[in-house]
Amino acid sequence: MGTRKRLISPTTQPSSPDQKPQQQITDPPIAPPKWGFLFKLSLFSIPYFYLIFFHFTIDSHLRRSIIINAGLSLVGFFVTVRMIPVASRYVLKRSLFGYDINKKGTPQGNVKVPESLGIVVGIVFLVVTIVFQYFNFTADSNWLVEYNAALACICFMTLLGFVDDVLDVPWRVKLVLPSIAALPLLMAYAGHTTIVIPKPLVPHIGIEILDLGWIYKLYMGLLAVFCTNSINIHAGLNGLEVGQTVVITYAILIHNIMQIGASTDPEYKLAHAFSIYLVQPLLATSLALLSYNWYPSSVFVGDTYTYFAGMTMAVVGILGHFSETLLIFFLPQVLNFLLSLPQLSGYIPCPRHRLPRFDPQTGLLTGTNDGTLVNFFLRKLGRKSEKSLCIYLLIFQGIACCFCFMLRYFLAGWYK
Ligand code: UD1
Ligand code: MG
Repeated sequence: MGTRKRLISPTTQPSSPDQKPQQQITDPPIAPPKWGFLFKLSLFSIPYFYLIFFHFTIDSHLRRSIIINAGLSLVGFFVTVRMIPVASRYVLKRSLFGYDINKKGTPQGNVKVPESLGIVVGIVFLVVTIVFQYFNFTADSNWLVEYNAALACICFMTLLGFVDDVLDVPWRVKLVLPSIAALPLLMAYAGHTTIVIPKPLVPHIGIEILDLGWIYKLYMGLLAVFCTNSINIHAGLNGLEVGQTVVITYAILIHNIMQIGASTDPEYKLAHAFSIYLVQPLLATSLALLSYNWYPSSVFVGDTYTYFAGMTMAVVGILGHFSETLLIFFLPQVLNFLLSLPQLSGYIPCPRHRLPRFDPQTGLLTGTNDGTLVNFFLRKLGRKSEKSLCIYLLIFQGIACCFCFMLRYFLAGWYK
């Protein structure tokens, strides 16, 4: 974390040495959520519910579970909106805040922005997904073990993310935290460890299905490490961390519904429904966070959120058996990772923050030579305001998701 101070809270001053500290809350309350922006985003739910109710014929029990889950997610959304200002006061009291680097030199750059508000999202998400089990799974359900193992991973990752926010773990150590958090799933996973060989390769390899054994579990662990870190390093603009998650989760939901609608295999449908049960609460709680984190941010999400969101998407990709599709949804993150490799590997020095240069006179950002997609966009498109750059990057994320759907459409039947 960049410019954060801890230990001695500036809002808590003892008036004399033998007197207990008295709390004097001097920090102003955070700005209200951006409801107008949320309303525009909520319009995207129309095509999603159209697919569920009208376009596809979905089994009634599956549809019922999806709707119950959506209802609980909606409750989770309102609870998150309500709890973020409360939690902001508490984190500020403990001096867990950051300064907005892309506003340095302006009055906004001196405001203490509460950090790690991902903790609210993580807790509400876990409550929603735990309560949902009551409505869906029976005690003998095969999915129960994997569902709870997935929740254990997400919970463990949220904890480690918060530890990172509070203790400022060196970033090379950060890289391995997700592999520890993924252990509950790797150990409990009893599903298949086979992959379907792409049809064009079958004549060369001679088999249609390959059992990878423990290598499959290694792949699961690596996917968790990649998803979490790639979200965390594609960051630093107001709204970008949550915005990219919102776009990807929306694409995952559409993909899941399309697969359920087009399939006749009950196991396959359940795998995608399983993904929906985790992704709907993720999307709803993330939208609540985005309403505070969108430009100009009144809260920061912290590594608690980036790790939590990355791990949730990784486990749904693994257990829903669509990790290849997920990786194409992650195309901007893959590009950002490739651009970052020289600095991440230490070949080129890696500063603490690899952000663009902000000009307080014009309010515009200029790309630096640090290897990130943010800087690459600025170098190609020219100077931009923080908000418009974030919108460009999120549109690019949306284009990557559309590209994935097109690819799946054209390769269907030929590839697998
Ligand atoms: C990662 C990136 C780092 C980037 C940082 C921004 C790598 C290896 N690390 O580090 O280059 O600068 O994310 O999140 O690529 N902040 C803003 N505006 C925002 C969001 C964050 O100014 O919209 C600043 C605040 O000072 C905040 C801090 O970034 O306190 C949070 O940084 P942190 O998440 O701890 O950085 P890393 O994840 O370690
Ligand atoms: Mg971070």
